[in-house]
Amino acid sequence: MKVIKTFFIRTYGCQMNELDSEILLTQLDSRGLKLAKSEQEADLIIFNTCSVRDLAEKKVLGKISEFKNDNKIIGIAGCMAMSLKDTLLKDYKYIDFILGTNDLLKINEILDDLQTKNIQINKTSENYDISIDNFFAKRNSPLKASISIIRGCNNFCSYCIVPFTRGREISRSKNSIIKEFKYLANLGYKEITLLGQNVNSYGKDFTDEKFLFSDLLYELNKIDGIERIRFMTSHPKDISIELMHAIKDLEKVCEFVHFPIQSGSNKILKKMNRKYTRESYLEKVNLLRQVVPNVAIGTDIIIGFPEETEEDFQDTFNLFKEVKYDTAFIFAYSPRRGTLASKWKDEIPKDIKNKRLQELLSLYHEILQEKYRSYVGDIRQVLVERLNKDQKMLKGRTKRFEKVIFEGKENLIGSLQNVKIESFNHQTLIGSLAKD
Ligand code: SAH
Ligand code: SF4
Ligand code: F3S
Repeated sequence: MKVIKTFFIRTYGCQMNELDSEILLTQLDSRGLKLAKSEQEADLIIFNTCSVRDLAEKKVLGKISEFKNDNKIIGIAGCMAMSLKDTLLKDYKYIDFILGTNDLLKINEILDDLQTKNIQINKTSENYDISIDNFFAKRNSPLKASISIIRGCNNFCSYCIVPFTRGREISRSKNSIIKEFKYLANLGYKEITLLGQNVNSYGKDFTDEKFLFSDLLYELNKIDGIERIRFMTSHPKDISIELMHAIKDLEKVCEFVHFPIQSGSNKILKKMNRKYTRESYLEKVNLLRQVVPNVAIGTDIIIGFPEETEEDFQDTFNLFKEVKYDTAFIFAYSPRRGTLASKWKDEIPKDIKNKRLQELLSLYHEILQEKYRSYVGDIRQVLVERLNKDQKMLKGRTKRFEKVIFEGKENLIGSLQNVKIESFNHQTLIGSLAKD
């Protein structure tokens, strides 16, 4: 029997996983276990994993192998536990348990079993456990928290593994979301991010009442205490005019929409099963900018998808130039098991993928520098989050999600401040407190 007194959780992947790790941590904490400073010092290590790209998985497998000869309890949670549920325990005998995205509340049950039985445990149910809606995790930050509003994904983009790791879409009840939102407001939280693979689908599965994502925003905006509401991700095929109006009308809802195009070529978009065209996407961007002139727009882009020609890539490049994104995550395609696209040849050579990636990145940075230059002299409201990495300046974000650093006393952390933008570097605006 291995004694467990301390634990460590290493989190990979998206904000959904960060939140899931907070749910795990809260339960281990109430069991009386102590959080260790590093993997080395822990009796129990949980790797909360991501499967979205090949590299993400390779990183995890490399990391866990460092502990194969240690007398520690090793658990794999998250998306790899789901997508490799049939092989992980067989292939890696030193893994003690796998815990899927629907079984987060079973962690203590697993640890109890491991204390008495010398077996590997597999808890990776396909069915969503509704009791998690009433489990409010302790968050890592005292200021910003995420709330899950819709689980799973129904879209089956041809490249994407997420529908296989997170199951089908299920909207969380309005009452449990409002309850958690109020709970966090009472604890002094200032910013909440509403999470879903596609928040625009929220409520479409309710049969008893009509209550969609924009309705949820109007309800949450009424709750005192929280200063800012963010949300992600918005699938371009589903963004509604009501949502655009909610962003405009509601003072807490941030003017930032993560609106991933993935590719600017209609041929590739069709193969990706994204269900919109370049033209319909641009129409929505234009409408969004008409309704919310100050909106910042973010994107994800995949380059090197099967059959992406230089011309297709130029379509993406030109669309990027036209939209002038405020944030962008650009990824090289990697085939994922079980997906439709994995049946097609991953034919674009690595050096071409790399070249396209670099071209887009330099365009992105050029655009940012041009934008930042035009912001100099502006006054922006910043939610002060913490000391910057240099431990001297304060760091925060604007409603449009721009990172701002400025000089000020630490007691400003947690407050909203007006900052005058004076200069900028790579991806950061630099300013000073605006005089009243
Ligand atoms: N639900 C979100 C995306 C979640 S996955 C949405 O629809 O926008 C995050 C990002 O990872 C995706 O937007 C996509 O750009 C990227 N991604 C997903 N699968 C990928 C793959 N097989 N190869 C490379 N990037 C991928
Ligand atoms: Fe993946 Fe597409 Fe669902 Fe996003 S919408 S999680 S990219 S399948
Ligand atoms: Fe998130 Fe990665 Fe899973 S992006 S949903 S942790 S596959």
